Amino acid sequence: MVAPTPHLRSPIGRRRFLAGALAAAVLPAVAPPARAEGAGVRVALVARERPRLLPGCAAPSLLWTYGEDWPLALRVARGAPFAATLRNELADHTTVHWHGVRVPFAMDGVPWVTQPPVLPGESFTYRFAPPDPGTFFFHPHCNTMEALGRGLAGVLVVEDPRDAGRFDVDRVVALKDWRVRADGAFDAFSTDTGAARAGTFGDLRTANGRRVPEIAVAPGDRVRLRIVNLDPTRAPLLDFGPVPAMVIATDGNACTPFRATGWRLGPAMRADVAFVAPPRGTVTLADGWAAAPVPLARIVVAGAPAAASRAPLALPPAELPVPDLRRAETLEMALLAGSSDPDIEKWARETGMSADALCLSRRIFWSINRRAWPGQGHERLPPPLAELKRGRSYVLELFNGTPHIHPMHLHGHTFRVLGTAGRTVPPHWADTVLVEPKERMRIAFVAGEPGDWMFHCHIIEHQESGMMGYLRVS
Ligand code: C2O
Ligand code: CU
Repeated sequence: MVAPTPHLRSPIGRRRFLAGALAAAVLPAVAPPARAEGAGVRVALVARERPRLLPGCAAPSLLWTYGEDWPLALRVARGAPFAATLRNELADHTTVHWHGVRVPFAMDGVPWVTQPPVLPGESFTYRFAPPDPGTFFFHPHCNTMEALGRGLAGVLVVEDPRDAGRFDVDRVVALKDWRVRADGAFDAFSTDTGAARAGTFGDLRTANGRRVPEIAVAPGDRVRLRIVNLDPTRAPLLDFGPVPAMVIATDGNACTPFRATGWRLGPAMRADVAFVAPPRGTVTLADGWAAAPVPLARIVVAGAPAAASRAPLALPPAELPVPDLRRAETLEMALLAGSSDPDIEKWARETGMSADALCLSRRIFWSINRRAWPGQGHERLPPPLAELKRGRSYVLELFNGTPHIHPMHLHGHTFRVLGTAGRTVPPHWADTVLVEPKERMRIAFVAGEPGDWMFHCHIIEHQESGMMGYLRVS
């Protein structure tokens, strides 16, 4: 990819450019668009094995990446045409799913469902104009435990012209653990004990591929961190210590700001966090979901103070289809342990796949409404979990009947999180919602474009062992 500085194309002042340049010494800068096309952007994503030294390892690990940078972070403008050509130079077939972006169905990147898989040596061009600003990411949708485990993911920032000048520092902080040994070799990405419980955790914790990286800011800088949880298992509890950092966007969508400390970020979830840099010292982002908080990144304050700005840290409101709760139809989705289901068995007989093959030769630990997706592939589609009508409003009541958390993700739609009886949740928009054990979490949305939209747990081992289905919109 050509490498003009992205900062010149984005609505960022010179101060932020300098702050970005300083920080770039420590953290990879956001990768530039390869070539501008009108107001749009074209990029090449070359999925390939690329050896890379992970922190603390004696030898490089065999990562799978879309480009030389890890994490790859692309910036595009809201509503501008975006074209990403995936070239598959892996030995495995693949696709790119644009997680959280309300893309046309054919661009959703689910093999066999929205497109044929992109075979080794083949290419596919994704084209869409991202309708909503925010922090999104992209990843494949098959063999995902291994692909994500080797790093195959990128961040997509959709810039909002309404934010111009609001922040002095705007950085992606991509969280991901690695199951890597001291010699750089990866451990098994999935284990049956993990898949059947809370998932298989990595041991090396990183932010932007580094161990506790530092981001340099000036006193008084208005800082925006786009925290992206790329991990398929870990759900950190954000902890900024005494600093009043606020979540200003959830899964990319503006929200009424709420305190970031105490917000739990399940796999695939994003939080845009804003604060004004203190006069001196260090702001530490840690994971508080541990006996002692685990530091993930440090924001180091140094240099001459910034000129005070009065622009609010809160973002302009999200512009999304608002569900009509009075008329919405409620559908229950029960998240349960895996079991065989007569409908699935009937379907299996009809398609010539034996029920035994579903449950015995493939690992099935989880289900939605007592249906377990047959295996991790999408070659044969079971019946939909529900049939929806475009333009109508729906409430999904997600009942978690298991002792584990499930970050549930719906493709192609941004939903309103209405909350749950036992826990106060700030009202917000999301594409992935964390459902705690025994909870009944309610979400609402307007059914969008016709298609079969995947609905699954984003603890990828749960997804791949049954907790996946789809909603058919017609
Ligand atoms: Cu981020 Cu269906 O996935
Ligand atoms: Cu789950």
